[in-house]
Amino acid sequence: MKRILLIVGGGIAAYKSCELIRLCRRAGIEVTCVLTEGGTHFVTPMTLAALSERQVYTTLWDLKDEAEMGHIQLSRQADLVVVAPATADLLARMAAGVADDLATTLLLATDKPVLAAPAMNVRMWQHAATRRNVATLRADGVTVLEPDEGAMACGEYGPGRLPEPPAILAAIEAALAPDRRLEGRHILVTAGPTHEPIDPVRYIANRSSGKQGYAIAAACAAMGARVTLVSGPVALPAPAGTTRIEVETAREMAAAVEAALPADVAIMVAAVADWRVEGAADQKLKKSQGAPALSLVANPDILANVASSPARPRLVIGFAAETERVVEHATAKRTAKRADWIVANDVSGDVMGGDANAVHLVTDIGVETWPAASKAAVARRLAERIADAL
Ligand code: C5P
Repeated sequence: MKRILLIVGGGIAAYKSCELIRLCRRAGIEVTCVLTEGGTHFVTPMTLAALSERQVYTTLWDLKDEAEMGHIQLSRQADLVVVAPATADLLARMAAGVADDLATTLLLATDKPVLAAPAMNVRMWQHAATRRNVATLRADGVTVLEPDEGAMACGEYGPGRLPEPPAILAAIEAALAPDRRLEGRHILVTAGPTHEPIDPVRYIANRSSGKQGYAIAAACAAMGARVTLVSGPVALPAPAGTTRIEVETAREMAAAVEAALPADVAIMVAAVADWRVEGAADQKLKKSQGAPALSLVANPDILANVASSPARPRLVIGFAAETERVVEHATAKRTAKRADWIVANDVSGDVMGGDANAVHLVTDIGVETWPAASKAAVARRLAERIADAL
């Protein structure tokens, strides 16, 4: 019998946690509930106790009589800690490592995987502080689900609704029986842009944020792979369980990729600059000298080189960011670069830097169009397809 510790935070969505408890129990999962102080304003300990048929804990001092350190025990008896609803405040305290109540103390003391299902007002979800906290938690290895989009209790509309209980249950079941099919595999991922210097202070680059590549590296690591992430300059923390090698230019990226081989799979997500400035200046170019005539030369094509190398990974996957005739260009790119698969996406909208992506997977047997999803969901799906293929 699998056991979860369910931390119910203080949001209107707390009532949905009652339904989640019922679904979990029907699925054969034992649930022990912790209710935050805020949570008690939305559901009662009695409700949770009746549904879980177990004692409900609300304060640190519930545990003080126990011979052993009660909070340590409680956080480790479960196979998984679930936070639902995870309010903006709870996420912030988790990200900062604050332990000022029972819930956050348990979260800091646990040695078990943690899954958070956020629920909050759309502006709170989109606030830079929350974005930062979610990124920190994900880098720490916490699974933070994407909230649903729709009408909110506060009358606004947008992302921030607690995912529906069946979706949370599915995530719980996945976390309890993790897919570790990539264990023992070495996966090489490139991500981010490259910077090609013009002089010591100026460079040519592109709009890549690195988000999709980092999500793929994280998804492969979560499935047990040893992941080498060769990354251009981005503002993202290295995902848990990956080894990051930071580079600036395409030539540095090519060298780092070559040094990282052999690998079972190479996934080239980086938006490598196609050209670099020939003879970049050693000193800063002065405005007074007039506009410089930059002469560009082609950078090495890292994907094509890896695909033709004697140490060619079994599966070589490229990306194709296109603004028109997406599938047609991707299909041509697959052949030209000798890649096994091309993941093609239409970047004419706000994909670059955004959190969502809609892609087509072009393989030797045809084209699959995947529904629009978060970059994390696209990454998970790709990692699962890789495991199927190996
Ligand atoms: O040719 P294009 O840049 O559109 O191809 C995109 C794919 O090729 C991506 O997978 C990208 O990571 C890879 N690429 C590369 N080295 C380059 C250019 C692109 O690895 N110099």
